[in-house]
Amino acid sequence: MKCTLMNKNVPVVDLELDDDTAAIIRVTEPLDLRYLPVGIGTGTGIPNKRDLNEWWYGRAIPASRSGIRSALEKLNVNRPEQLLMKCYGLSLSDQYWMKPADSELAWSAVNFFENKFSDDVGNILFEQPVNGQGIDMMSPCNTSDGWLKKKWKIVNGKRCLIKAGSNPYMQEPLNEVVATKLHRRLGCRNYVSYTLLWENGIPYSVCEDFINTDTELVSAVSINRSLKKSSRNSAYEHFIQACSQLGIPCMRKFLDYLLVYDFLLANTDRHFGNFGAVRNVNTLEWIGPAPVFDSGTSLWHDKLTRNINGYDPVETKPFYADAGRQMELVSDYSWIPFEQLKMLEDDIRDVFASSEYMDEERIEAIVNAVNIRIEELQDMAVERGKHFPAR
Ligand SMILES: Nc1ncnc2c1ncn2[C@@H]1O[C@H](COP(=O)(O)OP(=O)(O)OP(=O)(O)O)[C@@H](O)[C@H]1O
Ligand SMILES: [Mg+2]
Repeated sequence: MKCTLMNKNVPVVDLELDDDTAAIIRVTEPLDLRYLPVGIGTGTGIPNKRDLNEWWYGRAIPASRSGIRSALEKLNVNRPEQLLMKCYGLSLSDQYWMKPADSELAWSAVNFFENKFSDDVGNILFEQPVNGQGIDMMSPCNTSDGWLKKKWKIVNGKRCLIKAGSNPYMQEPLNEVVATKLHRRLGCRNYVSYTLLWENGIPYSVCEDFINTDTELVSAVSINRSLKKSSRNSAYEHFIQACSQLGIPCMRKFLDYLLVYDFLLANTDRHFGNFGAVRNVNTLEWIGPAPVFDSGTSLWHDKLTRNINGYDPVETKPFYADAGRQMELVSDYSWIPFEQLKMLEDDIRDVFASSEYMDEERIEAIVNAVNIRIEELQDMAVERGKHFPAR
């Protein structure tokens, strides 16, 4: 199928997709490469086909998504990539789409920010019944990332992402709410706010879309790809250099915050797909770091209660697997409001007490473990405060 890759209203490159697999088999004509997704090589004057395919397939639901097999069966496809063209590759995290060459489609008529979309795919992903006859596949759920069960839904006119947790504690959605409270305690202004939704005895987190018709989320994965990594540079230095070459402001300060915040939550999953930057899609100007999202994989969510111990090392991401080493990257500890953190234990108790999947013993074990991490952070602040003067 001949298509044009579009960024909102701008034709970016003409290409050809395989009808069965949706793979990009040919890049035919570069049109306006300034509007390409970040991180696609253009060394030869035309976008690199392999990079484009990686980006395009990266928009599909990952094969590791919880419950994806049975959902694909109901949707009558073999692989998640085959869902991409059911919604022209449109998503609610950016403005890219594939316009079939023989169509007169306009972005204003198809985008999910301004047009309603069907709940069918979302309901199937959640193993819920589909209303009416036939399945309407026009949905941003076809292009959502991440391994947890999730769906986009319009709630009171707002585009919201609803995310499940995992067995046996279903803790991730509750963690997102604790994380929201932690942002407030830390005085952060750049975060996604999560609330809790209970449906049929199962907890879900709900957050609003932080992208709008004029913006896109660019993951740290794409930012990293925009610059060839020198073997002399650490992962941190490489990322900071890529940001500075692209012109993304304020990233170092943002990372200071993110590392401290993730340390407190014992987050084990801050991979490069779980943070990034926001860009204006019309002017291509960088707005700054994306608001902090996806903090559910934290607070010992998958540990048996008896194994929760605040002194045990927790594997960290994205720069070093060792927490001590990663925390050395924090250039300033002077801003941390430790007085506020004393009240974090009340937040944790408040949120977790609402869940029948959490008993008191587990809640207190988590409270103790977090308090140990607060103390450790305080020690780091005292110790490193000597070497790193406040900026
Ligand atoms: N509020 C939001 N607005 C716009 N896009 C979002 C929002 N929240 C998440 N996304 C996009 O959806 C993707 C998946 O969401 P999220 O990271 O929360 O899911 P996850 O299943 O917990 O992921 P992981 O596999 O990293 O654990 C994100 O990587 C991001 O691209
Ligand atoms: Mg994620």
